[in-house]
Amino acid sequence: MFTAPFAPSKPPLPNDLFGAIADLKRDLNAVILAHYYQDPDIQDVADFLGDSLGLSQQAAQTDADVIVFAGVHFMAETAKILNPNKLVLLPDLEAGCSLADSCPPTEFAKFKEKYPDHLVISYINCTADIKAMSDIICTSANAVKIVNQIPEDQPIIFAPDRNLGKYVMEQTGRDMVLWQGSCMVHETFSEKKMVQLKIHYPNAEVIAHPECEESVLQHADYIGSTTALLKYCQQSASQSFIVVTEPGIIHQMEKAAPDKQFIPAPPLNNCACNECPHMRLNTLEKLYLAMRNRAPEITLPESTRLAALRPMQRMLEMSR
Ligand code: 13P
Ligand code: SF4
Repeated sequence: MFTAPFAPSKPPLPNDLFGAIADLKRDLNAVILAHYYQDPDIQDVADFLGDSLGLSQQAAQTDADVIVFAGVHFMAETAKILNPNKLVLLPDLEAGCSLADSCPPTEFAKFKEKYPDHLVISYINCTADIKAMSDIICTSANAVKIVNQIPEDQPIIFAPDRNLGKYVMEQTGRDMVLWQGSCMVHETFSEKKMVQLKIHYPNAEVIAHPECEESVLQHADYIGSTTALLKYCQQSASQSFIVVTEPGIIHQMEKAAPDKQFIPAPPLNNCACNECPHMRLNTLEKLYLAMRNRAPEITLPESTRLAALRPMQRMLEMSR
């Protein structure tokens, strides 16, 4: 007689996911760190929300035993670089980043060899292997500040985002060798559609992330990291904003300034491709399951971690 193989039944999901996550957080002594590009539900359960710099600073100073990172792989990996003895969980291990993927370590090592006297400044949106090959890490919030601290006669490689690199070159007047990587989300915004939107909303200010292409940035009234954009729209006297970055941030903008209007900038096609498909792999259910199962966990070879830690520490020191 055929008998079906024994499959242990999985515990069902609780009806109150928010309550269950709060219970697990207490039981595990966990902290939930979330990026602004996460689903609103995830943003609402986070202990700390921030841009990449803020999240790194939080990861560097937390005394929790477990870090649940609601973001993408390179962000959780950064938390692990800073916290080798903590359990770092990522709700979906597949949550990668097109920008980090655009800089494979073997090719980057060959690229670096061509510029032996150059200092390597890498945007945090890269893998631990690339961080390990870098001298200083930066984020969109501190890239200009960091480049401005480098002596003028020191040549620089900037990797992996060519758009942020170009923006930093304009802001600092420095010439840098750029790795030609980019973010699939920020390159999807259409200059033509944005100009049309500006005609439709003549009083709206355009606020944009520096990962966007130069043709889009030239229409911006303000350019900054996600945290900087959030602060700007609170302080500005304007009542409406065309938001040229991943629209997840609009959840916080609407909370912070409920009387103001936030218009997501249109992508090239009539798609939802201005939403980061990697960030959006995380869901509240997966976040709960990661805490319940204490997996998926981020791990790193210790030699890579130590090599990647050095430029991270330099960034944290230079951002003070
Ligand atoms: P910030 O978090 O520095 O604003 O960068 C946005 C981003 O693309 C993160 O992946
Ligand atoms: Fe990477 Fe772009 Fe997504 Fe940020 S928005 S995680 S840079 S693909």
